[in-house]
This record gives sequence, C-alpha cells and structure tokens, in this order.
Amino acid sequence: MTQDQLKQAVAQAALDHILPKLESRSVIGVGTGSTANFFIDALARHKMDFDGAVASSEATAERLKKHGIPVYELNGVNELEFYVDGADESNARLELIKGGGAALTREKIVAAVARTFICIADQSKLVERLGAFPLPVEVIPMARSHVARELVKLGGDPVYREGVKTDNGNVILDVHNLMIGHAPELEAQINNIVGVVTNGLFAARPADLLLLGTSEGVKTLTR
Ligand code: 5RP
Repeated sequence: MTQDQLKQAVAQAALDHILPKLESRSVIGVGTGSTANFFIDALARHKMDFDGAVASSEATAERLKKHGIPVYELNGVNELEFYVDGADESNARLELIKGGGAALTREKIVAAVARTFICIADQSKLVERLGAFPLPVEVIPMARSHVARELVKLGGDPVYREGVKTDNGNVILDVHNLMIGHAPELEAQINNIVGVVTNGLFAARPADLLLLGTSEGVKTLTR
C-alpha cells in the first residue's frame, strides 16, 4: 500500500468512527494537512448528516467550503464532539508533534475544545520517542531571535522556516535535536518563553484515539 492509500484508509476509519454519533446539529473540528484532506473529502460525501465544521486553518476552511460544508467560527460553537487531524509524530501515549503545516496554534485550540481528539496517521508517524521530527514553534515575529536564543538554552537547534507566515501572521522556528523526555513539561517550558504563541507538542492535551494506517489494516490505539 502507498502512503496515500494508508492515509485514505485512516481517514475513512475516522469517518466510520464518528458517523454513527453524528446528529443534524453536530459540528466537527477538522485539522490540516494531507491526511486531514482525505478526511475532508470523505466527510463531504456525508454532508447531509451533520451541520458543519470548524477549521484549524484557512486552507482547511477553503477545502471544506469547496465541498459545500458550512464552516463556523469556533467562538460561535458551543459543543465540538470530535476533532479529527493528522500528526507529524505520535508516541504510544498519543502525545504528538504537530505543525509541519504551520497550523499548530489553531489546531491546538480546536483540540482543546473538542471532547474527542481523533488522530489519523500512517504507520511512519508512530515513534518510540518524540523529536526526530523538528518541533515547530509559532513565534511573534519581533521575538524571533530572543525565542531562538532561549530554545538553544533548552538544548535545541532552532531553524527559521523561511518564507512561511502562519494564518495568525506569525513565524515558525523548527527546533532540531531536542531531547524530549517528559513531553508535557517541555511543552509548558517552551510555551513560557515570552514571544512564543505555542509549540507543536500536543502532550498536555494528547489525542484520545490514534487510527494508524498499516499494511495489515487500520490499528486503533487509545491512551
Ligand atoms: C499541520 C499538521 C499536520 O497534521 C501534520 O503536519 C501532518 O500532516 P500530513 O497529514 O500531511 O502528514 O500538524 O500543521
């Protein structure tokens, strides 16, 4: 199976998981990236079965709208039963690294609101220890050098993601070579640096369910 076929399989598995629980008033949180895009395309075939979606990025909002799925502002939504999104890495505790697509802040906000966070990923994303994928950190532009210096003090090698501006108008530092021992602690520590908007560790609020696409089929991991 190709990587795209694995992504498609987990997108369908996420849909199969949520479909029986959807009601006409349900609003679904939708993530960003190539795996999330497969989910959006699958979701579109059932757009009559729910009310609409909250998007974690402008790109996702656009794709949802193209499919005719209503997109709501998070502030106007009282309940979000499900958030479905991909990841760059997950460990067995379903702590994640996200932000490869620079959408980490909105993704973290939508995940915080959702009752159930379903992560969908192909098997290459499951790792024993987080950190081979450089950790994305969203930073207020004027704080870039300060934050970079602080990240070096934490043992990382931050690299400015050239030419990328987030949907919130900020920049991204990708931090290489971090020793991620206790992920919730490091997540809080980095978020405490003045000028950081948030970082791509999803450990304080990990996924609730990981649907992992493997050559033997979709595996379900829970915490
Ligand atoms: C975007 C993300 C994505 O979920 C992550 O980069 C995985 O993307 P893909 O499904 O394309 O592998 O965090 O900010």
